Amino acid sequence: MRESVIINEVGLRDGLQNQQKLVPTDQKLDLLVALLRAGVRNVEVTSFVSPKAVPQMADAAEIYSQLPAKDSIDYSVLVPNMRGYERARESGAASVAVVTACTKTMNQRNINMSLDQAIATAKAIVRRAAVDKVVARIYLATAFVCPFEGAVDPARVHQLAGRMLDLGAAEVIVADTIGAANPVEVARMFEVLVPRHGAQRLSGHFHDTKGLALANTFAALERGIRKFDASIGGMGGCPFAPGAAGNAATEDVVNMLESAGYATGIDLDALAAAVIVAERCVERSLGGRWMSWRRSKGSVQTKIQDE
Ligand code: COA
Ligand code: ZN
Repeated sequence: MRESVIINEVGLRDGLQNQQKLVPTDQKLDLLVALLRAGVRNVEVTSFVSPKAVPQMADAAEIYSQLPAKDSIDYSVLVPNMRGYERARESGAASVAVVTACTKTMNQRNINMSLDQAIATAKAIVRRAAVDKVVARIYLATAFVCPFEGAVDPARVHQLAGRMLDLGAAEVIVADTIGAANPVEVARMFEVLVPRHGAQRLSGHFHDTKGLALANTFAALERGIRKFDASIGGMGGCPFAPGAAGNAATEDVVNMLESAGYATGIDLDALAAAVIVAERCVERSLGGRWMSWRRSKGSVQTKIQDE
């Protein structure tokens, strides 16, 4: 039996939030369908943030109301504050991911809160979610390097993760928001967190700014992590974190894991088709290294033309 690894697709949120072109709701849903067809079962579909801050996410409620197969797919939404949580609940969301950065300045720039306010907000949402029977996960953003404050003390991340999990957060997502971590730092981070909290309540979120997203994913995998965020075609980045480039491309992560003997449940050929759908959404070419290789074989183009 191959060991399973869960891929949480974040292309529709992290991927699209940084794209200039506003993607119509029906095209976002087409991309979702293509991802589900490939076997993706965990999807962060949108964020209930201010439409003034992120116009791309203005259709969050509309997207949520039109999601297919809500009973069988693990859908989640990002929320920045209690107002976002309430909007998500009104839309029927059963799983939210609260974004809390590990540094003062990043919280200020991203969600207009101090570090203490951001932590208090995350705690309040976790408590509310427990009452509402909603799954609440916490993103610890800029867990390695902050674009404004530089290197982040790992002890601060360990402490924040502990506080959130003790409080009842279902999971802490350790996020290298700007893609500045290296595999040694990632390994050290999870060497501390996994024995304390168990790998089941932890996941990794890596950006590929300097080409280290796969190496960082593998470093976390070797320390026991079995759940990773990834974004179709490698789209992504936070509009409020200067220098943040795309996420680990879903197709690259799936290819790495499957070829290394892990089971993701995701079909790479169908994922290649999803990359093309994502390209239609943003009207530019996308794709990680695996996609370039696949295109060089010629079969992707043929497949798409055949459709
Ligand atoms: N969704 C929609 N609108 C929201 C909101 C939410 N979650 N939170 C606040 N607002 C609205 C308020 O109702 C208010 O509206 P009004 O101007 O019509 O009265 C307005 O936004 C300002 O409210 P305020 O509480 O002062 O917000 P702010 O200006 O301090 O902005 C955030 C805070 C969190 C709303 C905003 O910074 C944001 O949405 N950031 C998103 C960050 C993000 O998506 N980052 C990438 C993902 S990590
Ligand atoms: Zn991200």
